[in-house]
Amino acid sequence: MAETTTAAGLPSGFRGAEQGWPELHRIPHPPHRLPLLGDVLGASRHTPLQDSLKFARRLGPIFRRRAFGREFVFVWGPELVADLADETRFAKHVGLGVANLRPVAGDGLFTAYNHEPNWQLAHDVLAPGFGREAMETYHPMMLDVAERLTRHWDRASAAGRPVDVPGDMTKLTLETIARTGFGHDFGSFERSRRHPFVTAMVGTLTYAQRLNTVPSPLLLRGAARRNEADIAHLNRTVDELIRARRTASGDGRGHLLDRMLDTAHPETGERLSPQNVRRQVITFLVAGHETTSGALSFALHHLSRHPDVAARARAEVDRVWGDTPSPGYDQVARLRYVRRVLDESLRLWPTAPAYAREAREDTMLAGDHPMRRGAWTLVLTAMLHRDPGVWGPDAERFDPDRFEPRAVRSRPPHTFKPFGTGARACIGRQFALHEATLVLGLLLRRYELVPEPGYRLRVTERLTLMPEGLRLHLARRRVPAPALSSTPTESAGEDPASELRCPVHRAGE
Ligand code: HEM
Repeated sequence: MAETTTAAGLPSGFRGAEQGWPELHRIPHPPHRLPLLGDVLGASRHTPLQDSLKFARRLGPIFRRRAFGREFVFVWGPELVADLADETRFAKHVGLGVANLRPVAGDGLFTAYNHEPNWQLAHDVLAPGFGREAMETYHPMMLDVAERLTRHWDRASAAGRPVDVPGDMTKLTLETIARTGFGHDFGSFERSRRHPFVTAMVGTLTYAQRLNTVPSPLLLRGAARRNEADIAHLNRTVDELIRARRTASGDGRGHLLDRMLDTAHPETGERLSPQNVRRQVITFLVAGHETTSGALSFALHHLSRHPDVAARARAEVDRVWGDTPSPGYDQVARLRYVRRVLDESLRLWPTAPAYAREAREDTMLAGDHPMRRGAWTLVLTAMLHRDPGVWGPDAERFDPDRFEPRAVRSRPPHTFKPFGTGARACIGRQFALHEATLVLGLLLRRYELVPEPGYRLRVTERLTLMPEGLRLHLARRRVPAPALSSTPTESAGEDPASELRCPVHRAGE
């Protein structure tokens, strides 16, 4: 079914800041606002997030931007973000960037409106698919895919060729979610060109991003036609995947797709409809790989730039894994320092750099900013994570020790939010962290990472963030000596107060 849009071409449910924030005039905006165009001076349509970071630094913890007649409120001050995490007064807002994906993913988990019954149904049916037991069944599949990457990198290193980090991480994470989620193989490492499914997926993400940065969707008519073709391609591929699974022997092997097709809701007995299954498959293929691929790419960039950090992480891998060729599930969780490297990378470049929250009722944000029911704001995670008040005067510096348990405990809650917040936070968090820690461990153990001379980090934005043009040279390490001790010496970096509420969401969030 086609999505409804307002007369201005905005997805239905959109409410302008003018209606939602009675004291909007008290929220600062950039100087030099142009009539019609708004706050476009000093901004590029290719880098909306990085421009917002610039404005945030100048304008403070809450500010607004206007573009082509639409006003947006941004929040990143820790007190404001903590207040927005109050689930009794606020909820996820399916904002523009996310709503633009509705034609592709409909009421799939990520794009569902809060009131849509399929959200709760799918969440309850799929949450166990991200619990510990399910993760243990995914682990050997993740390892298999990671080994395809290392074979690919071994060839590059033997030939003295640098590797294309974001390209290869995207292949890896796509193959991992396809394999663990749906028992599918896109053959990404064997192809010289991008798989057409990936091209179509990137096309729809780019189109959704562009819709945010043009005055009217009518300006994108050519792109809209290509987008429709991309969506049709995604649907066809997914339908084939589902058909293949239905005609297979029927012995579910614990993939997410098996769960979607075979599991009834534990209380109501209800099942996901075929159309909803299609939307969830697309959702997981999209949500499950770009963000993790970006997180891995940024982490590899930082490791290549900080040989001291890389050496410490590598020493941990050698100690914990010894010379086992295939580390087990529990051995990944014991890589505490590698995990900190990942957390610190996600702090500086949270690859899903913002999320939107809306007021469930008329309320006062942090006791200071009145909001009407339905008013919404974008939480600028990437700026929250760089607030010197929380992270210190050196907040821009890469330092994994910020995630030592004692340092974590000393910070106020809701100051590290790469996976969003509340009931609608990332369902794939543990999946992503396990996959990324495993892969970083395998790569650190096998290679020295050498940066390309002269490379300076540039960040591309297309709903998610990625280091642009990042290539690394690899030097093969000798096979590590057997570990002297595999006893972990450091304790978990998890929030000690956190406690399981459902298989994927922790009470502390
Ligand atoms: C480093 C990797 C990842 C990051 C940074 C990330 C980030 C996020 C964020 C910030 C949200 C909340 C969005 C919002 O409030 O609008 C979210 C939701 C979601 N993520 Fe992730 N994600 C990652 C990996 C994954 C993976 C691997 C999967 C699937 C296997 C996944 C599936 C989802 C889904 C389905 C939702 C929607 C949940 C709901 O609303 O019920 N994500 N993610």
